[in-house]
Amino acid sequence: MQKDIAEKATSTFAKEVQEGLTSFPKYLSSKYFYDERGDALFQDIMAMPEYYLTNAEFEILETQKEGITAHFSSKKEPFDLFELGAGDGKKTKILLNHLSEKGATFEYLPIDISQNALEQLEKSLLSELPSLRIRPLLGTYFDTLKDIGREKGRKKVILFLGSNIGNLLHPNAISFLRQLKDVMAPNDLLFMGMDQKKKPQTILDAYNDKAGITEAFNKNILKRINTDLGGNFDIDEFIHWEVYDPESGTAKSYLVSKKEQKVHIEALDLLVHFNPWETIHTEISQKYDDDTVRWLAKESGLEIVTSFEDSEKLFKDYLLKRTTV
Ligand code: AVI
Repeated sequence: MQKDIAEKATSTFAKEVQEGLTSFPKYLSSKYFYDERGDALFQDIMAMPEYYLTNAEFEILETQKEGITAHFSSKKEPFDLFELGAGDGKKTKILLNHLSEKGATFEYLPIDISQNALEQLEKSLLSELPSLRIRPLLGTYFDTLKDIGREKGRKKVILFLGSNIGNLLHPNAISFLRQLKDVMAPNDLLFMGMDQKKKPQTILDAYNDKAGITEAFNKNILKRINTDLGGNFDIDEFIHWEVYDPESGTAKSYLVSKKEQKVHIEALDLLVHFNPWETIHTEISQKYDDDTVRWLAKESGLEIVTSFEDSEKLFKDYLLKRTTV
């Protein structure tokens, strides 16, 4: 085994791939979609006509920025604006511009696991909004939660846009939200985008576009195993499959093996056997309604202050605070 492959065998990625592909049923985590190619594919997804989420949240921020930012700070009280998973900041710029125009006193602290994404974001923000105070934080949400907790004194507003919470199963979402709640003071706010339950076909179309961009995004995890761990997945021998359960509001993505096949992963010294039509579950994209959000918030020690909805009632941004006892 080559030295670099041997080193990769001990990475968290390697361990989780080993665990997921030797389980029954097989699974892989969608967090591994996002390498450089995956980031670019996700940008393409957000620009697709079928992926209504981006435009809907964009519309909420654009048309309701006055009301939204009024909650962030009253009477020019200074605050820290954190953002979890900042990405390219396209939507956030609406709020940043508006806050700057209003003369709000705040520092913007985007958090991302991609150094590249943070550098690009800082560069574009500094040219568009030269007076903005920005302090990028590199790390996972969980590492940086500690950083958030350390920022004492100023009011904190935490942005978590794009329904990213929907990639977590309810128990994981609750444990994540509880940790967020623990670093929030009574006056702090969480502003969180949550995609809503709707006509099932609209959801299926958003995750199964005709151009095949979502398919390429889903299959990127197999490509990554091939390049990073020395796997020999034949990508064309798997199909992308999306299902949506309107009762639970859960959309699930799978990769389905078209035939019996064996895949070797060098770094793990692992031979994975697939039966015909055997699945790898790769992603969940949870859809919500107010009752579910209220329940999630209650379980996490949070409560809804208010919410903002787009004109087609596809998406909502919820403003949450710690429950007062
Ligand atoms: C990042 N996340 C909220 C997206 C979603 O809608 O679940 C990822 C995605 N997967 C397929 N298309 C978009």
